[in-house]
Order: sequence, then structure tokens, then C-alpha cells
Amino acid sequence: MDASTQTIPALLLDWYDAHRRSLPWRSPPGSPPPDPYAVWLSEVMLQQTTTAAVAPYFAKFLGRWPDVIALAEADEGEVMAAWAGLGYYARARNLIACAKAVAATGGQFPTTEAELRKLPGLGAYTAAAIAAIAFGERATVVDANVERVTTRLFAIATPIPGARVQIRTAVEVLTPANRPGDFAQTMMDLGATVCTPRAPRCLLCPLARHCAGRRLGPEQFPVKPIKAAKPQRCGRAFWIERDRQVWLVRRENAGMLGGMRSLPDDGWAARADGDKRPPLGGAWTAGGSVRHSFTHFDLDLQLMVYSGADCSRLAAQQGEWWALDRLDEAGLPTLFAKAARLAMVGAGSGRIIGD
Ligand code: ADE
Repeated sequence: MDASTQTIPALLLDWYDAHRRSLPWRSPPGSPPPDPYAVWLSEVMLQQTTTAAVAPYFAKFLGRWPDVIALAEADEGEVMAAWAGLGYYARARNLIACAKAVAATGGQFPTTEAELRKLPGLGAYTAAAIAAIAFGERATVVDANVERVTTRLFAIATPIPGARVQIRTAVEVLTPANRPGDFAQTMMDLGATVCTPRAPRCLLCPLARHCAGRRLGPEQFPVKPIKAAKPQRCGRAFWIERDRQVWLVRRENAGMLGGMRSLPDDGWAARADGDKRPPLGGAWTAGGSVRHSFTHFDLDLQLMVYSGADCSRLAAQQGEWWALDRLDEAGLPTLFAKAARLAMVGAGSGRIIGD
């Protein structure tokens, strides 16, 4: 083992003890590891989402469903609504499925990476993170921050995703048997606060002396693949208002924003524009549009406002009337919350609300 393989983890853990972020899902230094339920919940929420955005959701979920059994027994619609705004809604569906699986075996999370990986919807990253942070297993935890720190430290010039095996091997070698969870979170904190994507603060970095990327220009790492342009999709959402209430539907589980409450729409999807007819025949007027960026495509969602008088045919359809003054409780995903805002500010045709 080369000297830096021992030096680097020690430098990192010393840095963590002095500079770690204080985050609600962490236990204070020297105290027992955090509750596995809290670790699991936070790790699922933190995928693709910042710590600042997650903190209020984490508090809300822990307050409302304090353990995995409570979450497993919760009304699924309420869980989906509580998740609204966090995005990547498949995570919430997986969260529910996983809670039910853990509850079905007595409410204790498995304690190893390999066993955690068998739970529904629990991917390689999450299994490793929970095993390391909650159970002290020497698991290899690699997220985007860890990737950035590692590709810089070793000047890994292979573009992502081809570099992933090399990155994983490097992290595996560095991960110490003692405090593997703190080590993983150190790499995350270093990536979030010092080894940032732009303008990294190398003068503050405990690894500056060991960093090959620093000498070459750290911002070039990780090397990104050439990106294909994102497709642009178009869709329409339908605003039907009556007596200060709006007509909302529950989306099918499969597909974009599955299981969430939303405005009725024309069936837009990642691969195709929408083509379904409005839920009511008759008069519709254009009410402006909403732009939203998903991971694999951009959407231009045109708001169509019903200006007819007869809503009676909705009675035969799946959906519900929802009071406008309680719309913030409907748990609309951000896209539809933006569309609702557009409708309620009385936008004229041609108005656009962006990200
Ligand atoms: N991102 C994902 N997991 C995290 C954690 N445990 N601490 C900080 N940032 C994270």
C-alpha cells in the first residue's frame, strides 16, 4: 500500500472532524451512529437533490412518519403529496415499496450492503451509503461529489461514465475500515464545499499536496462525455375551474410523475408530444405556457383554460374538485404547481413561466 493510501483517509477524517457540515440526519461526533431509518430516508431524498432542499422534507417526513413501520402503513397518496416538489417521483414510489418490505420483516433494516441491495428500489449507491453510515461497513460509496473529488485527486482523464470502474477502485482502496461512514460523508462534504464543480477552493483543501488534478487544472475533471442535445417536447395541461375549485386527477403509476396528483393533460411523455384530447369538449382558450427541464428532455407545457359552462361530463371521469385556496396542500409536482400559478395569476395567452 502506498503511503498516500493511508495518509489521505487520515487527512480527510481530520478535516471532517473540524469542518463537517452539521446536517439533521447526522449524529454528532463521538455519539452512536444515526438511526438507519433516518439514514435511509435522507439518502433516498439526497439523490439528485441538494442538502438545503432536502432538509425541510426530511423534517416533515420524520415528524409525520417517525419510523419505517409508520411509513409502511401510511396512505400512499399522502406520502406522494408530502414528496411533491422534491422531484424524481420514482424515488417516492420506491420509498413506499421499500418501507413495506422492511416492515414486513419486523421493521429492522438489514445491516449489510449485500442484504440492503435486495430491498425493492434500493440501488447500489444507497445500499453502500446506508451500510457505511448506519452500520459501519467498509462499503464503497460513490456519488457525484465523490466522483469529482476522486477524478481530480488522481487526475483520471477517462470521460464519465467510462471512468466509473477506475473511480470505484480508487475509492475502494482509500476507504478505511475505521469510520467508513464518516469517510464517505467527508468526500461528499469536500466535494460540496471545497472541491466544487467551478472555482474549487484548493487553498482550503486537506488533499492539496496530494492532488494530481490541482497541478493540471482541477476544473477539467471529471471529464464529461459529449452530450446529445436534450429533446424538446410539447404538451398541454387543462385547467377546469368551477366555484373556486379546480379539477385534479391522479396520474397513473407508470410514466412521468407517476402516482402524483396533477392537472389533466394530453399524455406528453419523454419520447413523444402529447396527443390526447381535453377532458371536456367545448371552448378552450390558451393561457400561456410553462417550461420545465427534466433529466432527459425539456417540456413546453401549454396551459389550456376551459371557458365552457358545462362540467357535468367530468362526473364520469376519475378525478376530484380541489379548492383553490387549499391548492398548496394538493401535493402538485413543481411542473403543475407552476401551471396552476400561471392559471391563477390570470395569465393572458403568450405568457411563459420558466424553471
Ligand atoms: N449527499 C448524499 N448523502 C449525503 C450525506 N450523507 N451527507 C451529505 N451529503 C450527502
